[in-house]
Parts: sequence; structure tokens; C-alpha cells
Amino acid sequence: MFWGGGIGARNIYNYNSRKEVATPAAGAPSPQMIVSGMVTVPGDKSITHRLLLLAGLCPGRSRIGSPLTSLDARSTASLLRALGVNISPLKIGGNVVVVGRKRFLPPGVVLNCGNSGTSARLSLGLLAGHHFTVSVTGDASLRRRPMKRITEPLTLMGARFGGKLPDRLPLRLRGGPLRSIDWEMPVSSAQIKGCLLFAGLAAHCAVNLREPSGRSRDHTERLLRSFGYSVLEDSNGWIRFQPNGKLEPFDLVVPGDPSSAAFLVGAALLAERGELHLLGVGLNPTRTGFLAILERMGGGIESVRQGIAAGEPVGDLAVKPSELFGTVVPPSEVVGVIDELPMLAVLASRAHGESRFLEVGELRVKESDRLSLLASNLRAIGAKAAVEGNNLIVEGGSAPPRGKVKTEGDHRIAMAFEVLNAVPGARVKVDNLECAAVSFPGFSESLKKILSKRSSR
Ligand code: S3P
Repeated sequence: MFWGGGIGARNIYNYNSRKEVATPAAGAPSPQMIVSGMVTVPGDKSITHRLLLLAGLCPGRSRIGSPLTSLDARSTASLLRALGVNISPLKIGGNVVVVGRKRFLPPGVVLNCGNSGTSARLSLGLLAGHHFTVSVTGDASLRRRPMKRITEPLTLMGARFGGKLPDRLPLRLRGGPLRSIDWEMPVSSAQIKGCLLFAGLAAHCAVNLREPSGRSRDHTERLLRSFGYSVLEDSNGWIRFQPNGKLEPFDLVVPGDPSSAAFLVGAALLAERGELHLLGVGLNPTRTGFLAILERMGGGIESVRQGIAAGEPVGDLAVKPSELFGTVVPPSEVVGVIDELPMLAVLASRAHGESRFLEVGELRVKESDRLSLLASNLRAIGAKAAVEGNNLIVEGGSAPPRGKVKTEGDHRIAMAFEVLNAVPGARVKVDNLECAAVSFPGFSESLKKILSKRSSR
């Protein structure tokens, strides 16, 4: 099930590839962008949400090591506190202690999930199995995101929803006893899958699911199995959950988030010299699709598996500046790189030739309409990019990227474009880099730490 080859297994992606560095004209000192350092990235966002929620619904004291402490993780922690769960403060570099309960208490307040789609969709799954009424909302971005993908199957299971719009937050949910479901998901999504599996967990009923195109991240399945629940995948792609396990207090350490690592990998690839080491990164195969795509593009990356944390393979990445080439990302690869597409698209703008990202329509319903924002911002910094139907086409170039980037408060758009400042001569001005705190606290500091300019003489 885990990355093949056991502890210490190596995957070498063009690791000796070297960027061709233009020789400076005689007498003209030209500063070079150097990458260096050994860095750990913040804890995995998806796993932190899931561990907080599972610990919250488990009587007793659980300890979560190296959790993500970002705004999104705080949204899950604060909604759990409103449901009667005791959670110690989320502090960078610390552990968190959760004293959970067998059943949540009815909250006296509206649960506000802020910017976090994962907090909203996963908690609605657990709450659908509770016999009380609850109201859930979010910030302006989250209130624009589609919810029918979860309210429709949860309604079929027996939950009742009310709200101004059936497909959007704020929603009022009346949970209760649920019946089992066989559900063909309209899109491959770990948030839908996690929501329905959590509904089955909270209501003690069977859940059978099938994803249409590719396998979304499987953290929920791994964690439920670790508590003794049977979550099996049959030969027709059905994932079958049985409520036959038991949540017990746990002590688990969260691996580093590969989606956050992807931004530092991107900066290292764009630099001219040096080498970056990222330590303790989650290497779950449902999350590392971006490494395979970067390999195709010529990226010099080596990954070495070091062990297991929270039931997930974990390892180190070494990255060297590399000359990149355009690629085609087919629809089958999209679900595995859904959060890395902004970084990949930005890197494609620095590659030789054209890149095509096919059937990436899901990008329209993320924290922003990432599909249009990627294309318009790439054009704003001087690159060629277009949206054709649900495809994103990016033409690579070598002129220094310069211009203003509109993030609409989207953390991954902000971080992807800020990385372009690693290109010599770049002048990219991101309108709201602070929103990186949604998933990557200390992003700007980490980027500054790994990049330096040195005179080439
Ligand atoms: C997540 C699943 C993905 C991803 C999000 C986190 C999760 O969303 O984009 O950042 O933790 O389940 P979708 O499942 O909706 O694609």
C-alpha cells in the first residue's frame, strides 16, 4: 500500500540535471539566485483537519504532534471547541492536546469555517450523524463554493438541510439517524469522500462510494483503517466502509505538507545554483503526482523515504535548479495534483515550450476561480496563458516576470506567484501575500531563508 521499496527507497527525478546559466558579459557582475538550506515544512493540512476531528469524537485525551497551525486548522479547532471538545492552543512548533467526547454537544453558536472548505465539508459529515440542529457558515470565498456535492448524498442518507440557497453556505443541518448509501460521486474529491465516510462513522452505517476519474487523497481511509474499520476498495473502484471499528485516543505526528513543500520545490527549481533539502515531507502516492510531473518537465528532484508518520509514508526531498520543459497534464492526473496546479502552471511559464493542463475545471470552485486567475495573472506578469473550455494552456518564456498579481485572497495563488520572484530580474508584486497564512504560516520567511543573491564574480 505504501510507496514501494521500504524505508530508504529512493526516487530520482533527473537529479543531476543542471540549469544552463548564461555567462555574464566580461566585466558585468550579475547577481545569481542561489538556493540552499535544510527546511521542514508545516504539518499537512488535510491530515491535521482529520486528526483534530477524529480526536474530537473520541472520548479521552489524544496528542497530535507537529500539527498545522494555520488559519484553516484553527477553523476546525474552533468549531470543535463550540461542539464541546477541549483543544489546547495551536502554536507553531508545538503539539496539540485534544480531549474528545463520545458525542458532540449542540453548539450555541453558528459554526464559522472561515476560508476552509475541508473544515466545512468534513464537519458537516460528522454533524449529519448527530441528533441536533446546527448552522454552518464561512467567509465570502467559502460561501461561494458548491455544497450540493455533499448535501445531496447526506440528504439521501437522512440528513435535512435548510438555508437561503440549497447549494451554498450558510446551511442549517438537522442530523439524526442515517441510512447507508451507495453513491457515485460526481467529481473525484477527498472532501466529498471524507464527508460521507465521516457521516457513516458518526451514524454507524455502511457507506459505499465510487470516484469517477482517478483516486483522490486517501487520508480518511488510512486513518479509519487504523481504528479497525474496514474500508476496502473492490475491483470496480467501489470504496466500501463498514462501521465495525472503534475510535480510541491516539498519539500521532503529522507529516510535512507536500502541497506546501511544492512551493519551495518550485523556488529551488527556478533558482540558478545550489540545492534545497526538505525534510519530513508526506510522500503518500495520492499526493506526490506533482513530483512525477516535474520529473517530466526536467526537474532535478530526489526523494528518499525515511519512515512512516500517522500511517503515511514520509521522507526527504532534495531539489536542484533545473531547466524545465513544457508538458501535458492529462485529466487522469488532475485529482492527484489539484492543490499543486497553481505552482505547476507558474513553473510552466518558465519552461521551454507549451504546457497543457487538461480538464482542470475543478479549479474554478477552489478558494477562488483559480482557472481564470491563473491565466489572467500569468498574462499580467508578461507570460502567455489561455483558458480553452476547461483546459489551461501556458506558453513558457524567459523574459523576467514583472507585473501585479491579484490573489482574491487565495493562498495558493499568492504563494505560486511569489515564488516567481526567485527568477533573476523578476519584479512580481502579489497584492496579498498575508493570505498564505491560510495554509503555510511563515511562508515568506521560509522563502527568504532558502534564497539568496550572490554576485557571480
Ligand atoms: C482536501 C481535498 C481537496 C483539496 C483541499 C483539501 C482534503 O479538495 O483541494 O485543499 O483535505 O480533503 P477536493 O477534495 O474538493 O478536491
